[in-house]
Formats: sequence, structure tokens, C-alpha cells
Amino acid sequence: MKDKNKWKYISGLFLVLIIFALGYYFKDSFTNSGNEVDDKPNISQTTNPLPIPALLEDMSLEDGKAEFNLIAQHGKTEFVKGKEVDTMGYNGSYLGPVIRVRKGDDVTINVNNELKEETTVHWHGLEVNGDMDGGPNQVIDSNTTWSPSFVIDQPASTLWFHPHVLHKTGEQVYKGLAGLFYIEDEFSDSLNIPKDYGVNDIPIVVQDKRFNDRGEINYNLDMMDSMHGFMGDTAVINGAINPQLEVKNEVIRLRLLNGSNARAYDFNFSDNAEFYQIASDGGFLSESVPMTQVSVAPGERAEILLDLSEYKLGDMLTFKDSNANLMTIKITEKIKSNQKIPKDLVEIEEYDLNDVVRSRNFVMSGMGSNVSINGKQMDMNRIDETLNLNELEEWVITNEGHGNGMGMGGMMGSGPHPFHVHSVQFRIIERNGKKPAANEQGWKDTVMLDSGEEVKILVKFKKPGLFMYHCHILEHEDAGMMGLFSVE
Ligand code: C2O
Ligand code: CU
Ligand code: CU
Repeated sequence: MKDKNKWKYISGLFLVLIIFALGYYFKDSFTNSGNEVDDKPNISQTTNPLPIPALLEDMSLEDGKAEFNLIAQHGKTEFVKGKEVDTMGYNGSYLGPVIRVRKGDDVTINVNNELKEETTVHWHGLEVNGDMDGGPNQVIDSNTTWSPSFVIDQPASTLWFHPHVLHKTGEQVYKGLAGLFYIEDEFSDSLNIPKDYGVNDIPIVVQDKRFNDRGEINYNLDMMDSMHGFMGDTAVINGAINPQLEVKNEVIRLRLLNGSNARAYDFNFSDNAEFYQIASDGGFLSESVPMTQVSVAPGERAEILLDLSEYKLGDMLTFKDSNANLMTIKITEKIKSNQKIPKDLVEIEEYDLNDVVRSRNFVMSGMGSNVSINGKQMDMNRIDETLNLNELEEWVITNEGHGNGMGMGGMMGSGPHPFHVHSVQFRIIERNGKKPAANEQGWKDTVMLDSGEEVKILVKFKKPGLFMYHCHILEHEDAGMMGLFSVE
């Protein structure tokens, strides 16, 4: 080994050691959830009910039209008793309402920006024209209103909305700008699943926060944060720490959204309770998938059904992320219900591989402020890919875990990256050369790639305009791990 290389090798190793040590420290402080760290607010004893966001439904009288008002605003939120902190929300101080529309609706949303800074609102998962998409090029200045409109042209699903300001998405989402967007259709009407909003059909928005000694949640990035994204030490469910959800002993449906900047969750229940995933990002699966743990990456959604009919009055179980408790579920009412979890769900249209007209590669690499896709960082003045409407394409996405050379990037890999594409629901056909797991075989708009993984997807765009693909770790996105594409 040449002297120069030796030195590179040693310094590389040293950095790796430091980074792993730091990573271990932060991981640990998260799983403790504040119980053992005594300079953290004591959050374990209170039982706060799970907040249920307001449900916004059509307020216009005309059939097939739906109009909504959203106000992006500053607010104060008391995550920890007696400690109000500065947050942001839509129509409230933290997070947003759930907007519910129907397939075919002609929707207008008036977004009023009452923030002291610019914002945008992006409809994550929605297939819309580029100028309605709410990306970084549709800035809403302070004290102005943006009123996009679009016809809902896709199946029942649980989508969401959040800001997409160039280099500032991470901070605004972290402060609380995120809300759910439900689409219902005739099929979801007909399915025998829980549909009673907030009663047995429960929205669950998970974020993670880092509280300082004063209980504040400041967004200051250190070296670790720009590397792996901003991870909190405390999970917040619909705005509450360790909340309690009170339900009847029936089948309940949780619509899970990982609205965190960077943390991926492995959701599960105490007693290893079995549940069924019925929907992924873009709608129902073809069959309900039995499982005991579901991984949900930043930006992803999963709808799950949990059968509580065997539980007794007063029974409790815990909704968890790996070993960390997130929420208590308590049976407070006993009823006779004979609801069963349906096995067959929706018939999903299959793409024909013979219809693929083109293949493209997307290589995610680098770390920290050097994260990139295909070696490039976001440039609003450069269109990275040009596509045709309604053409089926195969995209091969790789997370270049181990580059060549002994540099930090090469040795470390860049960690996991959730790859997200605007204005489309795609299908995963391969993960590392194999068929993806059953719960990844439905419609997706975000796909998680661990270090070294390769995923093949089929995409077909139905709306024209300028859009983005990017890593949904918001610190990576803000650092430029994003590209622009045009559909013509
Ligand atoms: Cu959830 Cu480009 O975003
Ligand atoms: Cu999106
Ligand atoms: Cu990333």
C-alpha cells in the first residue's frame, strides 16, 4: 500500500468509528423515549387522548365540485405540559386537517400563506399537472393565496400534503406543516372495512422531535443531521407524545403516515399482535397482507387493519416502533361486531413489460451535503429527464452503498434513501433482482432503498408538466438530492 493510500485508509477508518459511535448514542436516546434521560421533559406519566385532526369535506353546493381553504400559519403547541413551543400548522398550530375528496371531484384548494416566510404546498401522491403540483417553483409568498385546482383521477388512497420550498422543506415539515389527503371512490365505499372517521378509521401522523432543556424543538442541523437527516428523540403521534387511543373491541383501521424528516419506523404492536396491511401509498392492495411488523419510510403510508374482537373491556395494547412505545390502545367499549378482515381487496391493473418503451437509471450516492442523484444536485434551471405522456418506462434505482475508493462516501455508503417521484403512482417489479414483498406490490410513490439496494419500477405519467424526483429524507432533499423532469 502506498503511503498516501495508507493515510487515507486510516483516516477513513477513524471517521467511520466516530460516526458509528455518534449514531449509537442517538439511537439509544431515541429508544429511551425520554424516560431515563433526566434532563429531558418527563413525558411518561401523562395519558393524553390521541388528537384527531379536523376532517375537511366538500363545502361547495355543486355536485362534483369541492373547495377547501387551508391557512399555513405559525402557532404554539404544548407537546409537553406547561411548555409551549413555536410550531407551524394548516388551519391550526400544528399539522393540518384531513382533506377528504372523491374520485372524479373537481377540487379547488385556496392556500393562504399567513407565515412570515414563503412556502409551497405539494400534494404528495396526487397525479396532477405540473403547475398544480406545489413543487419549489410554485412559491406562495407571505400573505398571498395560491388556488390550485385539479380533477381527482386516481383510486381511493391515503395521500398527504406538505411544503416543498427549495432548501427549506425540512424545517417547515418539522415545525408541523403536514396533513393527510384522502381519496374515496365507489370501490372503497363497497369494501367492508372500518370507515367511521376518528372512531375506527384513524389517521395516524408520526413525526419525531428533539426537545431541548426548555422544551423547544429547534431545527438546527449538526454534522450527524446533515448526514442521516434530522432525527428526533421523541415520537409525536398526531401532535401528542405517548397518547392513548380509545376504541371499541372491533376491527380498527389505522392510516399510517410517516411524516418524519428522516426516521424510518418499524411499526408493530405489543404481544406481537398480527395485523393486515390493506393499502400502500397509492391505494388498496390486491389482497390484505398478514404481518406483525410494517416498515414505513419517510413519506410513505400504510393502511392496516387490527382485529380487537378478542380483547376485553379495559384491555390495553401498545403501538410501537421496534421496541419504543408510541401509543396506547385501550378498549373502552364492548360491542358485538362480526366484522371480518376481507382477504380480497382491489383488482390492480397489471402493466405489460412488453409495453416498456425506455429504461432509465437513477443512482443515489454521496453523503452529507454531497448527496446526489446521477452525480447531480438539484438545479431549478436544468431539466434532468424528459418523458412522454402515457408511455410506460422502467426505472432502475440504485442506492450506491459502497462506492470505490477509500473516501468516507465509499466506505460508509450513504445510508438508506427513500426515493419519491411526483405526480405518479408506480409499481415495484423487482427489489434486488427478486419480486418485492406482497405489501410492496401495489401502487407506490415512494420506495425505500437501503445501502446497496437496487429497485426496478414501472412508471407511466398521465399528467404533463415539470416535476421532481428526490430522496424523501428532507435534509437530503434540501441538500439537493433531487432532480427535475418534464412530462410532455
Ligand atoms: Cu412528499 Cu417531493 O415530496
Ligand atoms: Cu411528492
Ligand atoms: Cu437520502
